[in-house]
Amino acid sequence: MTARVFLNGQWLAPQDAHVSVMDRGFLFGDGVYEVIPVYSRQPFRLEQHLGRLQKSLDGIQLANPYSLDEWIGFVTQLAGEAEWEDQSLYIQVTRGPMAVRNHAFPKDVTPTALLLAEAMSTPPASQREQGIAAVSAADIRWLRCDLKTTSLLANCLLRQLAVSAGCVETVLFRDGFLTEGSASSIFVVKNGVLLAPIKNHLMLPGITYDVVLELAAQHGLPHEVRDVTEAETRDADELWMCSSTKEVLPIVTLDGRAVGDGTPGPAFARMYDWYQEFKAKVMRATA
Ligand code: PDD
Repeated sequence: MTARVFLNGQWLAPQDAHVSVMDRGFLFGDGVYEVIPVYSRQPFRLEQHLGRLQKSLDGIQLANPYSLDEWIGFVTQLAGEAEWEDQSLYIQVTRGPMAVRNHAFPKDVTPTALLLAEAMSTPPASQREQGIAAVSAADIRWLRCDLKTTSLLANCLLRQLAVSAGCVETVLFRDGFLTEGSASSIFVVKNGVLLAPIKNHLMLPGITYDVVLELAAQHGLPHEVRDVTEAETRDADELWMCSSTKEVLPIVTLDGRAVGDGTPGPAFARMYDWYQEFKAKVMRATA
């Protein structure tokens, strides 16, 4: 873990950073978070991540303890001093510690704000070259999956289904439609067209999802943002998962059945290259 963490305005050694057992984040999962990839010490899509943080805070009626500029300052400082060139920055803001355990929001409560860095662990090349296995499950989460809250128990249980089956991700379906993965956005490719579920309250508005769609538009890959059925997902030529930490990965089996011909598809190969080119360009521009 990082040499120093930012906790409530102070830079501390991780072992000196403490949070109260009465913190609502600990007792109720009453908080929100962000995961921001950093390449060569440059935060990737920082304003978009901080914008989503603000939306998540608004969604749980919690005032942001810091301005956008302050967050940019903290993140830039940490990205500059953490021990790795490529990092995954974690921000968490909870409603803070309460005097007595009570579900209702206390009147005077000071949010807890945490920022820390971890080494970015990009997926091994084998996952990109051979693809990954996924399982599927019913999306049992609540109806505000658009908020990036720390209440992640359902996501953890769903992700564990994949891990217990020796797989990487769990693809979620709700009422016959694709929503997303337990910790990723999911895309379908059918007959050369990229299909993306519409961003709504049932899925997280992924920052990587936006990048993938922007790249598809830029490079002329036909794409449709619309409801995607479970049947279409199971009948896909290609299935991709994407997130800030995994970038884009091809899913080659779903519930033990081959997706398409069971190997990473040609659309994925193009998207992967476009994504790497885009990253390199952005990093050069901000260096
Ligand atoms: N999770 N959907 C869910 C449920 C997620 O948890 C994530 C990412 C995504 C992809 O979002 P983005 O492209 O903005 O990273 C979609 C992060 C990485 C996490 O919880 O660690």
